[in-house]
Amino acid sequence: MECVLVTGATGKQGGAAVRHLLSDGYEVRILTRNPGGDSARRLIAAGAQAAQGDYEDRASVRAALQGVSAVFSVQMPGPHERNHAALLVEEAKRSGVRHYLHTSAAAVSRRTAFPRWGTGYWYDDYWRAKWDNEERVRRAGFAQYTVLRPAFLMENFLPPAVARMFPDLRHGELATVMRRDTVVDLVSAEDVGAFATAALRAPERFSGQSIDLAATAASVGQIGETLSMALGREIRVVELSPAQAVARGQSRGWVRGQEWTNEVGYQVDIESATQHGVPLTSLAAWAATHRNRFVFD
Ligand SMILES: NC(=O)c1ccc[n+]([C@@H]2O[C@H](COP(=O)([O-])OP(=O)(O)OC[C@H]3O[C@@H](n4cnc5c(N)ncnc54)[C@H](OP(=O)(O)O)[C@@H]3O)[C@@H](O)[C@H]2O)c1
Repeated sequence: MECVLVTGATGKQGGAAVRHLLSDGYEVRILTRNPGGDSARRLIAAGAQAAQGDYEDRASVRAALQGVSAVFSVQMPGPHERNHAALLVEEAKRSGVRHYLHTSAAAVSRRTAFPRWGTGYWYDDYWRAKWDNEERVRRAGFAQYTVLRPAFLMENFLPPAVARMFPDLRHGELATVMRRDTVVDLVSAEDVGAFATAALRAPERFSGQSIDLAATAASVGQIGETLSMALGREIRVVELSPAQAVARGQSRGWVRGQEWTNEVGYQVDIESATQHGVPLTSLAAWAATHRNRFVFD
């Protein structure tokens, strides 16, 4: 049976990839720094093998790749993102991986056209690293590769991400620097996992492509209404200034990300995203499915 190494498995997209790959009959190995943690244990109970590993430890990644024919690759933003991405590509090449699935971010191909590009205002290195890592994958010489580029993940409304991104949601407030009429392109991490599995199953339809992913384009006002309907309680949209958001505990980087959504946005061609034969989950359907995972005071 084909064995797939999933990185970021204890997180949103990797976790979804594990679930979809297992249910599609793949052997799955997860790379995690903490195999004893709750998330890893749930995946192991569902049938995944655990490989304790860290991008900071090349030998651990090399060991995790033994006997693996495909990789699901995700890295965290920050000063180490490029090094971590490069290490995984190098080790995957070295161990003979056939299909490399990499998740990046929507809009990255338009980055140089963002207004204020080159001034650092949008933390340009976030976008440069995303692009450089994609290019590394495309040029590495894998027999097959697929790049997935999610827009805003719906799972940002759930723990653990919600505490950092929408800390007031637990009081029923969608308090955000994004304006009420700002349109947000959203996709579920579960659908990223479904795309990864479909790409592995049918490389002739996916390999060589870099695919922007979104299912729903909704204004912040509509997001509030959709969540209210699905959760059966009022979710009030509260517009914050950047300073107010920082005062409420939101990080400056995330605040700038919300300003980016107001001014630029992912602008995914959702019609194209639906052409790949993988069903995409609307925000309403996603929220109804996951309503029990929302946490309120
Ligand atoms: N949130 C969004 O709306 C959005 C949209 C587009 C793109 N993105 C991109 O998506 C990526 C994050 O994906 P996600 O939200 O699915 O992740 P996540 O839920 O934040 O999970 C992070 C994962 O990274 C793993 N990890 C962290 N440091 C590691 C290290 N040193 N070595 C090995 N693994 C490590 C963690 O594994 P362990 O703790 O188990 O080791 C964990 O599974 C970011 O690059 C972000 O820019 C996010």
